Amino acid sequence: MDTRPIGVFDSGVGGLTVLHECLVTMPHEDFVYLGDHARLPYGPRPLGEVRGFAREIALYLEAQDVKLIVVACNTATSAALPQLQETLAVPVIAVLTPEVHSAVQATRNRRIGLLATQGTVDSGRYAELVHALDAGVEFFPVACPRLVPLIEGDDPYGEQTEDAVREYAASLKEAEVDTVILGCTHYPLIRPIFQRAFGRDVTLVFSAEETARDVAETLARKGIENEVSREGVYRFLTTGDPAAFREMGRRFLQLPIGEVEHVALAQLEGAAA
Ligand code: DGL
Repeated sequence: MDTRPIGVFDSGVGGLTVLHECLVTMPHEDFVYLGDHARLPYGPRPLGEVRGFAREIALYLEAQDVKLIVVACNTATSAALPQLQETLAVPVIAVLTPEVHSAVQATRNRRIGLLATQGTVDSGRYAELVHALDAGVEFFPVACPRLVPLIEGDDPYGEQTEDAVREYAASLKEAEVDTVILGCTHYPLIRPIFQRAFGRDVTLVFSAEETARDVAETLARKGIENEVSREGVYRFLTTGDPAAFREMGRRFLQLPIGEVEHVALAQLEGAAA
């Protein structure tokens, strides 16, 4: 048994889609979630910079005595997963690979689209992983730079979001993909908008549930689960505005988030120094 919490991080509230699935799968575990709102969005930044941010956050969470870290951000995963696994003593679980598995299994016409941030598309990680599983798949990546700021903005379900999604979906519809990976943890927060844009014949894939399963299996195999009869407690941290995070978190997670703690960037930098 291991009573330490699990650390989860993202650039913002997107990782709450992964946290939600973790809470469903492991209600007895404690979690500490960090949103790096002060530096959001990660998508347009150079991958090396995002790698540095991910390293700082992961080392900060490790110093908070977490037993496992979930990288609940596709951009950070694309930029930094191998380096995080090399640097940290605790296991690191990430998004991305589970989505690729699901997408390759789901496609019937072997035409798969990807919607993701610029950084994720530029990293080429999805294309590599898709082709490692099925070299015959035709793969169509589309960077969606407008989406994360809109989802984190004042009107996430508004007309501008609808227009942006339609615009990004258009080239994938033209390419006749039958499966689309939502390759950013923010995107499931507006899933109905994607579903309307693509219709019923396109399968939308995202990996929060598989990632949560991965976390649960890792804890079980390593014998570091918490007592199953207990109820978990959650801590929320942000480098940005705690009140704004609390509001967005409540809305998207439908969880009465109590206190949100502010973490200064200097504290993150200090953990990595
Ligand atoms: N949720 C992050 C991801 O999965 C968003 C990145 C960003 O801040 O642009 O990529």
